[in-house]
Amino acid sequence: MKIKSICCIGAGYVGGPTMAVIAQKCPHIKVTVVDVNASRVASWNAKDLTQLPVFEPGLDEVVKEARGRNLFFSTAIEQAIDQADMIFISVNTPTKTYGKGKGMAADLKYIELCARQIAKVAKQDKIVVEKSTLPVRTAEAIKNILNNTGNGVQFQILSNPEFLAEGTAVQDLLNPDRVLIGGDTTKEGQGAIQALVDIYAHWVPQDRILTTNVWSSELSKLTANAFLAQRVSSINAMSAICEQSGADVNEVAKAIGMDSRIGSKFLKTSVGFGGSCFQKDILNLVYIAKSYGLNEVADYWEQVILINEHQKNRFSDKIVSTLYNTVSGKKITFLGWAFKKDTNDSRESAAIKVADNLLNELAHLTVYDPKVTEERIYGDLEYLNSRSEEENRELLTVGKDPYEACKDAHAIAVLTEWDEFTTYDWEQIYESMNKPAFVFDGRGILDTESLEAIGFTCYTIGKGSK
Ligand code: UDX
Ligand code: ADP
Repeated sequence: MKIKSICCIGAGYVGGPTMAVIAQKCPHIKVTVVDVNASRVASWNAKDLTQLPVFEPGLDEVVKEARGRNLFFSTAIEQAIDQADMIFISVNTPTKTYGKGKGMAADLKYIELCARQIAKVAKQDKIVVEKSTLPVRTAEAIKNILNNTGNGVQFQILSNPEFLAEGTAVQDLLNPDRVLIGGDTTKEGQGAIQALVDIYAHWVPQDRILTTNVWSSELSKLTANAFLAQRVSSINAMSAICEQSGADVNEVAKAIGMDSRIGSKFLKTSVGFGGSCFQKDILNLVYIAKSYGLNEVADYWEQVILINEHQKNRFSDKIVSTLYNTVSGKKITFLGWAFKKDTNDSRESAAIKVADNLLNELAHLTVYDPKVTEERIYGDLEYLNSRSEEENRELLTVGKDPYEACKDAHAIAVLTEWDEFTTYDWEQIYESMNKPAFVFDGRGILDTESLEAIGFTCYTIGKGSK
């Protein structure tokens, strides 16, 4: 089957960039990305490419090339479904906040709504592709809904999890380690798999396109994220030991990373991992393990999250204890709010929890992040519901200029590894601060020696005192 028209439901951090790259690489395919959120769609259509709702290096160029040619963003969901041969579902699957599986299982209500909408609208056979990360065997549920509520047309369900990381999404999409496609072993299933393989084959070498059964594909995505998060928690657990023992976690990471069996990537200690995937996917894995009665397996993976929570609390505790056990009324400036550099996304960012802990201690926070909006920062805190909106706004301000944000601060805490933080005039910052001036580097990006030469007292995560 030759695909001429694609629809993607969900214009978020995954749907938007993924479809932009498919459209760029396959100019003969019409790609329409639809979303219920009209303002998000409007931002994707903005003339000014700096206003795209997702900030990703290089994304503006891709959108510029394809938008209006064969890439369209729209709120006309039913029309796009009707016209498409292939429909990607790329909606959010947050952790459930109610009922059975609350706080653990993925909430599939948006997925189900999509399936029902596709079933209602479709008048010809269609291939439906799961792009969102889903619990294993979700395809079965989607298939049931499509086949039992549809207009008698045939649906093939594929699982095609996305492995892009935010901040490097465009590069990850253009040059993926692998593309994974799961589908039915029937003749029709194999035909659907081939149709999707043919799309990726426009720019991805064949030997990097893996095909599996649907369940393996769904579970592989959860497994990959669990393994990656586990590496971060492992090195973060070691960072605590390094600080106590006088070792340097970066030296340890380098030494173990040179063992080709371990490898050097994903061993950078931090104030804790964030992002929309790691925590959600592990909780989901824990829930799946428990539902199969595999309690020891569930406990094993849960530790990855517990260590991550511990790391965030450890960082805020360190700030409080270093500032003579009280931060009440003291100004602490956060450099960074995003969950990693080069993204405007702050979902599950460690900064949120660290801020919440310090606000509980009545600190006065000022946050500067190069890309995360003020509205989003307050939104993140409001979501926690720890205090009223007014209190959050009283205790926390959002700075537009880093030097202004650091002025009169008792301490600076680095929460995100933005490159620009290393290029600041730290002497000027030191001069403008309250003394003694402290720096807490939760990402290990600053040159501690030169900061100490200026006069700062420094703490770097994972670095024991000499
Ligand atoms: C992750 C997976 O990498 C990606 O394959 C999947 O599709 C989605 O989830 P993402 O969450 O966008 O991607 O970013 P990632 O680079 O994995 O970082 C996640 C978090 O771990 C960030 O908070 C990051 O700062 C942290 N991290 C990562 C570390 O603290 N240390 C590391 O060595 C690597
Ligand atoms: P991700 O990081 O997985 O892309 P996001 O939350 O950034 O997740 O994006 C998911 C998008 O899906 C949101 O813009 C949301 O408005 C959209 N969405 C959710 N449910 C539906 C639906 N039933 N129809 C259309 N769009 C939807």
